Amino acid sequence: MTASSPGVSAEPYDAVDVIRAKRDRRELADPQIDWVVDAYTRGAVADEQMSALAMAILLNGMTQRETARWTTAMIASGERLDFSSLRTPGGGRRPTADKHSTGGVGDKITLPLAPLVAAFGVAVPQLSGRGLGHTGGTLDKLESIPGWRAQLGNDEMMSQLERVGAVICAAGAGLAPADRKLYALRDVTGTVEAIPLIASSIMSKKIAEGTGALVLDVKVGSGAFMKDEARARELAETMVALGQDAGVSTVALLTDMETPLGLTAGNAIEVEESLEVLAGGGPEDVVELTVRLAEEMLAAAGVHSADPARALQDGRAMDVWRKMVAAQGGDPDAPLPRAKESETLYAPADGVLVGLDALSVGVAAWRLGAGRARKEDAVQAGAGVRLHAKPGASVRAGEPLMTLLTDTPERFSRAKEALEGAVTIAPAGSRPARRLILDRIA
Ligand code: URA
Repeated sequence: MTASSPGVSAEPYDAVDVIRAKRDRRELADPQIDWVVDAYTRGAVADEQMSALAMAILLNGMTQRETARWTTAMIASGERLDFSSLRTPGGGRRPTADKHSTGGVGDKITLPLAPLVAAFGVAVPQLSGRGLGHTGGTLDKLESIPGWRAQLGNDEMMSQLERVGAVICAAGAGLAPADRKLYALRDVTGTVEAIPLIASSIMSKKIAEGTGALVLDVKVGSGAFMKDEARARELAETMVALGQDAGVSTVALLTDMETPLGLTAGNAIEVEESLEVLAGGGPEDVVELTVRLAEEMLAAAGVHSADPARALQDGRAMDVWRKMVAAQGGDPDAPLPRAKESETLYAPADGVLVGLDALSVGVAAWRLGAGRARKEDAVQAGAGVRLHAKPGASVRAGEPLMTLLTDTPERFSRAKEALEGAVTIAPAGSRPARRLILDRIA
């Protein structure tokens, strides 16, 4: 029996009353929110009741107060990490900073960014996820490095932060368990897109993780969760307010995801591109966003006179990367896996490449084996899409535009289907209208 049986349950509230309140556009009181999140986590509110409530929230929204309380209740469902014992070489308290991206195609920025920020003495505890659907996952990319391990205990994480300054690992099961359960339910009930639920889901994990500063990279465009700028802005504003209320110095950038970041979408090929950036090269857009996010993280952590672009050029970020990979069992010098098969697609006409659709490239990379359809699926380390041109480039008919990579060539045809209509070539002299960083919200 659940809490919906008056007279029988020892629960202080009735789930049906809470659902009706939201259905009828009333605000939920703090104790109602605390109860429903806790009762759902321990199984006293049933999945079908939480599904109805999530749908009412999606349709009728929540106020900022309700969203903040919901976030607090999700944090309270699990453990909170505490990095306050981390020290600088001078004995002062060592600042911590983290970045969260809402996910996109070719978004490998965490890989060069975490060691880059750590090179300035700020500790970076970066809890990351795996890919689902067309957006890649940071852990899947790093697991293409032979020996690298994603699962660390809290003590190991702390010791790595002390010794190396940066860690990228999987979030432990103890962090916001209410979110894990609710997210799985939202995934199968068409309620993922509710802004209060997305914001509280992301921020409960980030606040519980214990970072002092947080920079949010909220993606906008075809390859992003949020397709239009107004909704992305609303999500960013909601999350920044939640972070600030919780005492985390939080800023958000709205960034373009109409076209993939960099020239690679996959796993090992994205690590390869990140290494180019750490060696002082790499595609312009990846470098621009890495440097800008590093500046924001450092400023939010109280470090104002840093020059991250220089730390990519002079090898300081690469030194931290090598230590970070080795500390998690990875061999920074081992050759990365390569796909067994490849197929190249060519430009159909002369002109300027003005469009290269992020979602199509993401779906193609996923179908080639770089991503998974179900949480349990394995990914192919070498699979993905390597681009030979980016929007703005002049192309000639017959020139290579992109190469598809996989170990299983039967996947090529479905990947090519995903790419139909993905490329727009305009007459010479045209220019794509594109800015990478659309806005900053603080
Ligand atoms: N990522 C999360 O962690 N939660 C959401 O709800 C959506 C994206």
